[in-house]
Amino acid sequence: MKTRPFGKHPFNCSEIGFGAWAIGGSWGAQDDATSLAALHRALDLGCNFIDTAAGYGNGRSEKLIAETLRARAAAGKVGKVFVATKTPPDAGIWPPSPYCIADERYSEKYLRENIATRLANLGADKLDLLQLHTWTRAWNRNPTPFKVLRRLQKEGLVGLVGISTPEHDQNGVIDLMRGGWVDSVQVIYNIFEQEPAAELLDVAKECGVGVIVRVAFDEGVLTGKFTADTKFPVDDFRANYFAGDRLARAVVRADKIKKDLVGTGYTMPQAALKFVLSHPAVTTVIPGIRNPAQAEANCAVSDLPAMPPALLAKLHHHNWRRAFWYAGK
Ligand SMILES: NC(=O)c1ccc[n+]([C@@H]2O[C@H](COP(=O)([O-])OP(=O)(O)OC[C@H]3O[C@@H](n4cnc5c(N)ncnc54)[C@H](OP(=O)(O)O)[C@@H]3O)[C@@H](O)[C@H]2O)c1
Repeated sequence: MKTRPFGKHPFNCSEIGFGAWAIGGSWGAQDDATSLAALHRALDLGCNFIDTAAGYGNGRSEKLIAETLRARAAAGKVGKVFVATKTPPDAGIWPPSPYCIADERYSEKYLRENIATRLANLGADKLDLLQLHTWTRAWNRNPTPFKVLRRLQKEGLVGLVGISTPEHDQNGVIDLMRGGWVDSVQVIYNIFEQEPAAELLDVAKECGVGVIVRVAFDEGVLTGKFTADTKFPVDDFRANYFAGDRLARAVVRADKIKKDLVGTGYTMPQAALKFVLSHPAVTTVIPGIRNPAQAEANCAVSDLPAMPPALLAKLHHHNWRRAFWYAGK
């Protein structure tokens, strides 16, 4: 497993991190024994970065991570594992609208209480990285929640401070990076969603901000394993994510990528991860992992040869601007 510097911060982060949403819930049936085995397997393979959140099973994901780290400490496995968690905004619409007030959605009282719960669930006295789970650029000119988080950092409750982009306006975090408010950004960047390559990733590099890439498989379709007839259980959020004709359209596009990979030696999941890692601003990619086989397949990608420029150039053509006009949906 190769590592990369976490922006300008003193931590060498594994290229493949562990996305811990599905082990918390919302992805259909998931048993804790399999989740624990997946975590151990990934960490045994050199993964040293885990991304979780308050909302992943209302603490279930965080508690599984804590259990894993306790077991490893008891077994004498002492390598540092960096755990990033997230605080969601206080009750209200998601993502926050331009009319939401920052001090109402992320008040100091709320942040302190929420972070106390994150610490308790993770069994820690300091969070390695606390990310705000979403944002609106309406708050950029006076980002009071980050003023609070910088105070909590000085108090020693939080190590690094970060932001996870709102899906509809990822570039809304650029001013936060330029203003020195965040140590890391978590961003959607994959073969379908290449817009961060326009500016966001370069700004992160210029500012020494760590870049955590989420949803590298576009919730699974970029693994190439779905067909237009794939059905998701009702308790799997993908039944909604891929609602309407979205799955059929995504599968047509994924199949075109598959054709471009013939003879390259890459499987679809490998190409999806290697594509992300080919951008020099990226620190780590955090595929969702829910069993030991996925831990093995995904962790192995770090050591594969770098993606050749000619293949990268081909994959640039698969950027999918799911925007206002139906044809681009
Ligand atoms: N707003 C936010 O901040 C936000 C939002 C979304 C995600 N995230 C973070 O980003 C992480 C990654 O995103 P994600 O989990 O939503 O989606 P993803 O990484 O695009 O897809 C993950 C899913 O793909 C399947 N999979 C994983 N490895 C595979 C492999 N090698 N071959 C075939 N299938 C494989 C698994 O589901 P199946 O086995 O069921 O197919 C897995 O749950 C999350 O876990 C979370 O930590 C953050």
